[in-house]
Amino acid sequence: MKEKLEQILKDAEKEINCAASVQCLENVKIKYLSRKGELNTIKKNLKDLSDEDKRVIGSLANNISNQLEQMLEAKNEELYKIELNKKLLEEKIDLTLPSDYTPQGKVHPLTQTINEIVEIFQGLGFSVMPSEYSPEVETEYINFDMLNFPPEHPAKDMQDTFYTKTAPNVILRSQTSGAQIRQMLNQKPPVRVISPGRVYRCEAVSARKNNLFHQIEGLLVDKDITFGDLKGILNEFVRIYFGSARPTRFRASYFPFTEPSAEVDVQCIMCGGKGCRTCSGTGWLEVLGSGMVHANVLKNVGIDPEIYSGFAFGMGVERLTMLKYAINDIRLFFNNDIRFLRQF
Ligand code: DAH
Repeated sequence: MKEKLEQILKDAEKEINCAASVQCLENVKIKYLSRKGELNTIKKNLKDLSDEDKRVIGSLANNISNQLEQMLEAKNEELYKIELNKKLLEEKIDLTLPSDYTPQGKVHPLTQTINEIVEIFQGLGFSVMPSEYSPEVETEYINFDMLNFPPEHPAKDMQDTFYTKTAPNVILRSQTSGAQIRQMLNQKPPVRVISPGRVYRCEAVSARKNNLFHQIEGLLVDKDITFGDLKGILNEFVRIYFGSARPTRFRASYFPFTEPSAEVDVQCIMCGGKGCRTCSGTGWLEVLGSGMVHANVLKNVGIDPEIYSGFAFGMGVERLTMLKYAINDIRLFFNNDIRFLRQF
C-alpha cells in the first residue's frame, strides 16, 4: 500500500506538471482527490489493516493528499496567469480606432412645438380632436360659411385661399377653425378639444410668411363659460409655454366666428418691449387669436346659445416657435437644412 501511495504521488505529480490548462488540472484533481478518487479509495481500505499500519499508511495518505493540494494550487495559479495573459492579448482593444458613426435623427422643431403645446393643453383638461374632423382639403362651406363669414363678405379677403379646379367650393383650408364646426356637429357639449394641423394661404413667400404653415385650434363649449375662463386658460398656456417672466396682454380684435374677439400679445423677445424692427416698434408680438364662440356659429351646428357658451382660439405654430427661439425667417422650417434642424 505504501508503494501504491508513492506511485500515486509520482503519477499525480507528473500529470499536474503536464496539465496544459486550468480545465485539465481540474480533471487531475478529480482523478486523485475527489471522494471517488484514488487516494480516497485507499483511505477506505485502511479499515482492513492492523492498527500500526493504519497509523503509518493513514498519515502517509494524508501527507500525500496535502502535497497534491499544494501542487495543484501552485500549478493552478500558474496556469490561470498564463490563460489570463493570453486572453488579454487576444481581446486587446485599440482605443484609438474610430467608432461606428450612427447619426441620430431629431424631431422637427415644429413637431416639437406641437407636441409641447398639445401636452400643455392636455394638462389643462383638453383632448386632441379626431383627425377626421380636421381635413386639409375642406369645403368653403365649413371653412367660411359655417364660421359666420357672410357670403362675399370682405372678411373672406383676410385670408387668400387656394381654390381647387376639380370641384367647385373645395379649397385647401386657410385655417384650422373649420375643425370646430366638424367637432360640434359630431359632439354635443361639453366639448373641450384642440386640433393641430396644416393650413394653406396663397401669399408671396417671405421671411415672415409661407404659403403652408401650422395652426393649433382650441374649442371649449359648456354651460356658463365666460371670457374670464378664456383669459384664465390662455394666460396659463402662455405662462407655461414662454415662462412666467414674459409679460402678455389681451387686445380687442375681430374674427367673424367670435364675439367678443381678442388677440394675445407677448412682449417682444428681441427688444424686451422697447420697440424694434421685429415688433414694428410696438414692443409687442401677436401670438394667437381668440374669442367667445359667436352665437351664430353655435346655431349653425345646432347648439342653443341660450343654454351654452364657449370660447375658441387659434395659434400659429411657426410663429410660436420663432418667438421662443428667436428665429427670424419662417422659411428655415421648410428648407430642410440639417445645420438648422440639428440645433433643436
Ligand atoms: N382662424 C384664425 C386665423 O387663422 C385664428 C383664430 C382666431 C382662431 C380666433 C380661433 C379664434 O379659434 O377664436 O387667423
